[in-house]
Amino acid sequence: MWADVGPWLGYVLDWANLLLRWAHVIVAIAWIGSSFYFVWLDNSLTPPTDPALKDKGVGGELWAVHGGGFYNPQKYLGAPRQLPAHLHWFYWESYSTWLTGFGLFTVLYLFNASTFLIDRQLMDWSPLAAVGAALGFLGGFWLIYDLLCRTVGRRPGQDALLGVLVFAVVVLAAWLACQWFAGRAAFLLIGAMMATTMSANVFFWIIPGQRKVVAAMQAGAPVDPVHGQRGKQRSVHNTYFTLPVLFAMLSNHYPFATGASHNWLVLVLIMLAGALIRHFFVARHKTEQAGLRAPWGWAASGALILLGVAIWLAPAAPTPSPAKPAVSTQALWMQVQGIVGQRCLMCHNAQLANKGVSFATPELIQQHAQRIYQQAVVLKAMPMNNATQITERERAVIGQWYARVSSAKAP
Ligand code: HEC
Repeated sequence: MWADVGPWLGYVLDWANLLLRWAHVIVAIAWIGSSFYFVWLDNSLTPPTDPALKDKGVGGELWAVHGGGFYNPQKYLGAPRQLPAHLHWFYWESYSTWLTGFGLFTVLYLFNASTFLIDRQLMDWSPLAAVGAALGFLGGFWLIYDLLCRTVGRRPGQDALLGVLVFAVVVLAAWLACQWFAGRAAFLLIGAMMATTMSANVFFWIIPGQRKVVAAMQAGAPVDPVHGQRGKQRSVHNTYFTLPVLFAMLSNHYPFATGASHNWLVLVLIMLAGALIRHFFVARHKTEQAGLRAPWGWAASGALILLGVAIWLAPAAPTPSPAKPAVSTQALWMQVQGIVGQRCLMCHNAQLANKGVSFATPELIQQHAQRIYQQAVVLKAMPMNNATQITERERAVIGQWYARVSSAKAP
């Protein structure tokens, strides 16, 4: 809807998109990087050998060399007897990742709901309704997840059950999102939904719990271990969400996945593979430290799922077609101009040139031949959500034409 207002507004939105995406990737690296580091650190600690450290209450330490310096982080069993004057807190990495991510999602999907979010063949609804439903996924998942943690998750020994229930909710959400939204948007939405919950875990549980512990210590009161346990539970969930969320965020580039006929299952399986692979890393740090063999089974099961999905989605072998009378290149070119005019021009013209691509003149069509072929025939990413209902036959005509012009140009 914004794209009609004027080309300069589109340009401003492009810049907002660029700056938000850049910032989002930077802060997400800082967040996930520090999260990976602390999980690794926690699982790699060894009991201190120096009795003075034990005396201080240190339960585990690690020696590392990095960037020309030697580091010796120490983890206290409970809290240190005395709090240092400066205590570094890790939360801006998480909050800024959510803020930039939500900003980007707004600029891309919510402002352009009719182009990106809505697929009229799935669900013909107004942009406002679609945006409302998308936001509902972000809030709804958090509420259900949080409720599960506060009920099932508080009973001892129910961690596995809680994991299964959370996974079931993700599967249900993935299925629903793929029934309602364009594939690309649905995948991203599920990623955003899980990432929102990760940040909410930090905001509502992990940091407030740590603040209560610090406040109790400053008041000289006994520290209730429940805050640490609850924070840890959320933090463990966040660890398993990381790889699935990163796939969902990158999935936009892979129409073979987002546009598959059971795309919800593709999403769920690839995310499951990510969680299993993450589990391999978490478990490996522990076994390595105990001198045991790495638990390769977890990584292998993740890899097997990915292989299974790859085989499942492989394109069918082309069926040999009966010999057709040869069509002249000129006749194909006439047909292609007609197809582009009917199926693409609406969104790629002199006034509205999405991604800077215009097919307003025959020269422009020829100039973009390779990109037209790539987007409409190979990836089938265009027309966007097949808004203009191009047919398979028309895609094939573009393919034939491209084969002619590209071989004609070859030396
Ligand atoms: C309903 C609107 C719409 C229609 C119809 C449409 N496109 Fe697009 N096209 C877009 C949008 C939006 C983008 C930008 C996508 C993005 O940013 O990922 C785009 C991007 C592209 C790009 C650039 C892709 C890239 O990443 O470099 C090409 C090439 C393209 N379209 C070709 C076509 C062709 C060929 C057709 C017709 C067969 C077509 N488009 C029909 C909306 C449309």
